[in-house]
Amino acid sequence: MILVTGGTGYLGSHAAVALATAGRELVIVDNLCNSSASVIGRLKRLCACDVQFIQGDVRDTALLSEIFLGHDISAVMHFAGLKAVGESTEMPVDYFDNNVNGTIQLLVAMRRAKIKTLVFSSSATVYGDPATLPITEDCPFAPTSPYGRSKVFIEEILADLHRAEPDWRIARLRYFNPVGAHESGLIGEDPAGIPNNLMPYVAQVALGSRNAVNVFGTDYPTRDGTGVRDYIHVMDLAEGHVAALDHLEQAGGLLTVNLGTGQGHSVLEVVKAFERASNRPIPCLAAPRRKGDVAQYWADPSLANTLLHWQAGRNLQQMCADTWRWQLNMADTS
Ligand code: NAD
Ligand code: WQD
Repeated sequence: MILVTGGTGYLGSHAAVALATAGRELVIVDNLCNSSASVIGRLKRLCACDVQFIQGDVRDTALLSEIFLGHDISAVMHFAGLKAVGESTEMPVDYFDNNVNGTIQLLVAMRRAKIKTLVFSSSATVYGDPATLPITEDCPFAPTSPYGRSKVFIEEILADLHRAEPDWRIARLRYFNPVGAHESGLIGEDPAGIPNNLMPYVAQVALGSRNAVNVFGTDYPTRDGTGVRDYIHVMDLAEGHVAALDHLEQAGGLLTVNLGTGQGHSVLEVVKAFERASNRPIPCLAAPRRKGDVAQYWADPSLANTLLHWQAGRNLQQMCADTWRWQLNMADTS
């Protein structure tokens, strides 16, 4: 059985589906600080199996020890954490407490229970503004926010742990820009308030709940002047986790891999693809560059391709179509 921390959140819920599809049993722990327990019912439908849910905080070592005692858990996928870059600059201590301390408490409980297999949610944000493209895993750490630094600190802690106790099996997965939703339209990303990220914002403009997309920067040295990112479908990302877990179980070790497509898309390309998917016009307004943004980055995913035998298969059009289906479903049920 796999423990999925943060499993009612955006990425964790999709990983739960991918795990169940691969025939794995799972239990979710989440404190619901950025998600709702209502996702559990939908997960049960999608997984066609029981999905156990425990409401709690990963910083609660006693609770984690209890979970490990009461369930036959062999590995942990650790998604729980705070992820808003801007917010992290305003409340850095909360970010370090939740992300770094949360991971430490999890490791303490895992160690006590002799569970030593962990898949960790890291981020391309650890690279900052890369000197060369595409980004390979040996590019240096250069985070530009407390959020990014929290991921670097955790990665370093995991490497030290593995150095000291090589029987741990650890994957540090560096995600690029996860977008999209499960193709059923039953689960997806549901950000509270004004979305920070491009895809959910574009979806709300298509729906008519926002007027126009503010395009942050139209004078970048990119093909159309707007920022370029490596968007990856959330189900490809989820399947990458299952591949990483399989690899760890067979080969062990400390694994550090990028999960991306290797292809960059500009803001305007995303908007155009979403117009096609939704068949609705999406007005855009040129806006100043957003502080802290870089012009462009995309992954070199070849290590994940060769080592994990995993490759992102869904294209930008599918990412937009699945986001749109989810957005329409949410609008119907709200
Ligand atoms: P999310 O906010 O949707 O999910 C995180 C979940 O963790 C939420 O359900 C939240 O309630 C829960 N949580 C937070 N702190 C907790 C705690 N202390 N104890 C228990 N539960 C807690 O975010 P997401 O997009 O699904 O991201 C999942 C992980 O992936 C995060 O670690 C994030 O930093 C990382 N990541 C996300 C992205 C992205 O663009 N979404 C990119 C790179 C890395
Ligand atoms: C994408 C592009 C914006 C909104 C963030 C985190 C990163 C990772 C993934 C966690 C950029 C432009 C955006 C809008 C716009 N998360 N944009 N108008 O900033 O690449 O990455 O999410 O680890 O750490 O920083 O993603 O979706 O916010 O932006 O023009 O309303 O869209 O400037 O070029 P980002 P994003």
